[in-house]
Amino acid sequence: MTTPGNGGTTLTRDDFDRIERLRSGFLDDARGDAALSDYWRCDRDLRAYDRVLAARIGWKWDAALAECRDRGLPRSDGATVLDYGCGTGIAARRYVEAFGAGTVLCHDRSAAAMAFATQQLRAEHPTVTARAQRDLRTLQPDVLLVSHVLAELDANGEAELLALIAKSRTVVLVEPGTHRVARRLAVLRGKLLATHRITAPCPHAGTCPSLQNGNDWCHFFAEPPPHVFTEAFWAHASRELHIDLRALPYAFLALQREAAAVAPPDNRVLGRPEITPHEARVLVCTEPGLRQAAVTKRHDAALWKRLKKDPATVRSVPPSTLRG
Ligand SMILES: C[S@@+](CC[C@H](N)C(=O)[O-])C[C@H]1O[C@@H](n2cnc3c(N)ncnc32)[C@H](O)[C@@H]1O
Repeated sequence: MTTPGNGGTTLTRDDFDRIERLRSGFLDDARGDAALSDYWRCDRDLRAYDRVLAARIGWKWDAALAECRDRGLPRSDGATVLDYGCGTGIAARRYVEAFGAGTVLCHDRSAAAMAFATQQLRAEHPTVTARAQRDLRTLQPDVLLVSHVLAELDANGEAELLALIAKSRTVVLVEPGTHRVARRLAVLRGKLLATHRITAPCPHAGTCPSLQNGNDWCHFFAEPPPHVFTEAFWAHASRELHIDLRALPYAFLALQREAAAVAPPDNRVLGRPEITPHEARVLVCTEPGLRQAAVTKRHDAALWKRLKKDPATVRSVPPSTLRG
C-alpha cells in the first residue's frame, strides 16, 4: 500500500524553511552519540514534516512491512501497538494499514507530536483506538514500532529502548539507510538476539556480517509510488529541498519472541546492484559473511532484467550466482 497522492495544496516557502531546519538537525553528524534535543516548535512544523519527510518514511515502511508479511509476520487485529518516538505517527499509520491493530499508543517526548500523531491516526483509521502514551513504565506492547529514532538517542535513551523492546512481543525498527545508523542498528540487533528471533530481513540468526568490515552497512532501497513522478507537488518539493525522489535508502529489523513462520532465504541482497551489459553484480548477506553474486544475462536474463529495471523486487538470488 502507498500513501495517497499528496497533490492538493502546495507547500509554501515557510513550509520548506521548516523542513530544511528539521532536516539539517537530523543530518548533523557533529553531534556524535549525544541526544538530539526537542525540535518540534508547533503544529506547522509537524504538518510540513508529515507532508514530505514522513511520507517518504512511510514508503520505507511499506517496503519493510511487505517483507515482514512475506516472512510470515501475522496480522495484529485487536493488538496494542506502540509507536515509540512517533513524531507525526507515520509508522503506526502504515503498520495499521498493513497489519491492523486494536489500540495504537503514540509515544514521544514531545507532547505536540503525540497529539498530532493521535489525531492523524484517528482520521486515517477511525476503527482503531488511538491515544497518547507518555508513561511507558508498566507497558508490555504486543507490537513496538520504532521509526527514525535510533540516531537521536544517547546511551541512556538506547538502554531505555532496549528495555522496552525486551518487554514487547513483536518489534519493527525502520531507520535511515546511512552507514552510521544502519551499523548502529546492526549492533543493536546483536543485543536483541538474547530476547527475540529475527523475522526479517536477515537470512540467518548469526552475528551480523556487515560489522566485519567498516565499509559495509546493511541497507536497502524502497520504491516510491508512481504518482511521485507525475505530481507537481513532488516535483516542487524535490526542487526546493534538493531531494532525489528515487533514493529511499533504509535499514530495518523485525523481531518476534517466536521464530518466524516462514524459513529465511539463503541470502539477502543488500544495497543497489551494479549493472553491466552482461551481468548484474550484487552484494548479498549470508551466514558466513557478505558475498558478491553475479547474475549473468546469458544464464538468467529475466533476473538480470529485474535487477536492472526493478531492483527493489529482488530480495535474494540463487546460490549458484554466489562468487568467491
Ligand atoms: C526523526 S523523528 C521520527 C518521527 C517518526 N517516528 C517518523 O518516522 O517520522 C524522531 C522522533 O523521536 C522523538 N524522540 C527523540 N528522542 C526521544 C526519546 N528519548 N523519547 C521519546 N521520543 C524521542 C522525537 O521527538 C521525534 O518525534
